[in-house]
Amino acid sequence: MNTVHLNKTTNQLVGTLAVPGDKSISHRSIIFGSLATGITEITNFLTGEDCLTTIAAFRAMGVDIEQTGERVIIRSKGYHELKEPNVPIDLGNSGTTARLLLGVLSGLDFHTTLFGDQSLTKRPMDRINDPLREMGALIDGREQGKYLPIAVRGQVLQPITFRPKVKSAQVKSGVLLAGLLAEGETTVIETTKTRDHTENMLQAFGAEVNVNGLAITIKGQQSLRGTAIQVPGDISSAAFFIVAALLVKDSEITIKDVGLNVTRTGILDAIETMGVSLDIAETAHVGGEVIGEINIQHQVAKASVIEGEIIPRMIDEIPILALLATQAEGRTVIKDAEELRFKETDRIQTVVDTLTAMGANIVATADGMVIEGPTPLHGATLDSYGDHRIGMMIAVASLIAEGTVILTDAAAINVSYPQFFDHLALLQNR
Ligand code: S3P
Repeated sequence: MNTVHLNKTTNQLVGTLAVPGDKSISHRSIIFGSLATGITEITNFLTGEDCLTTIAAFRAMGVDIEQTGERVIIRSKGYHELKEPNVPIDLGNSGTTARLLLGVLSGLDFHTTLFGDQSLTKRPMDRINDPLREMGALIDGREQGKYLPIAVRGQVLQPITFRPKVKSAQVKSGVLLAGLLAEGETTVIETTKTRDHTENMLQAFGAEVNVNGLAITIKGQQSLRGTAIQVPGDISSAAFFIVAALLVKDSEITIKDVGLNVTRTGILDAIETMGVSLDIAETAHVGGEVIGEINIQHQVAKASVIEGEIIPRMIDEIPILALLATQAEGRTVIKDAEELRFKETDRIQTVVDTLTAMGANIVATADGMVIEGPTPLHGATLDSYGDHRIGMMIAVASLIAEGTVILTDAAAINVSYPQFFDHLALLQNR
């Protein structure tokens, strides 16, 4: 399915959907399960390419990981027993694997080489390597370790108090993982709260972690205990269908068993500030994560200004929100989102280029975009640029565009949502 032809939908979207497991939580379940002693059983694991990359990395370090679809069983003897991999580790497209793994490898007593695909090779690693070096990590790579390929020789790490300059859960998590292996107590103090799955999951694995507002402290050299992890549905994947249902006339869908962790629900808040009402209900709490249901009916949105603390809570949803804004009444301004330039693609540029090619009125700014709506969209030949979220944004845009959209490199979507087109068909053909 590398090139797909997509046409405006003649059907409204109707039905109930469970989106696949959360990408961030799936990665972490493999990492913590591999570092823990005992058995970890994961259900609703995301089988997207990025998370399979994390499994392969820990298998290369000798961890017994049995994966059957969305069920994963990890049998590990704990982080002291991880082995030096005898080949370089391929991180594919996965920034999360790269940043979190660098934290782990810095404190393990062996040598590893990491490399990635073209996109990952351009993404900055100094943001994590700088604090790790401060802890005593021995890391080298292209441009002094700013970019992959990178080699790590694990050391006995010293604790630090770290105030990240970038708002990044990956960086926070990489340092906390290094802190887990270090001597003494490591503290990360954020300026804005980013997704807190690492903190939640460390506690689920029995670690002592203290969260005090924006400060997180972890005691070093603790052992983790294997546990059961139920991965909630990924709100970042759900966002594509939430916006699709808002855009396509007469639609009404329900997304069930989706993660509603408040550090991830910025997209729901942003949509509500655009005058849209969503029906949201919490149904369960598991492993420090909230799970619930969202009901969405077709509605016309109004423009809004999206900025500040909400941005890290919806960083991956900005491409799909930009599409919604092209159909909203008025001028939508997205600010404080310069981090988008460091994702799988420069998502300010790729969103603006893609939606402009479809007829939208959208301009890029240094830290976001300005969108005037509503504007009719039309078909075009568009590339995902190898970015899963750009691919899915294009597919959703095609549902309301006049004429055919030809999407090339649609396979990029497999990174986080291999069932995306099947789920779309399910909602279209009720
Ligand atoms: C992630 C954090 C975010 C997000 C990425 C997953 C994570 O990146 O964009 O898709 O699992 O920690 P940053 O923390 O670098 O912003």
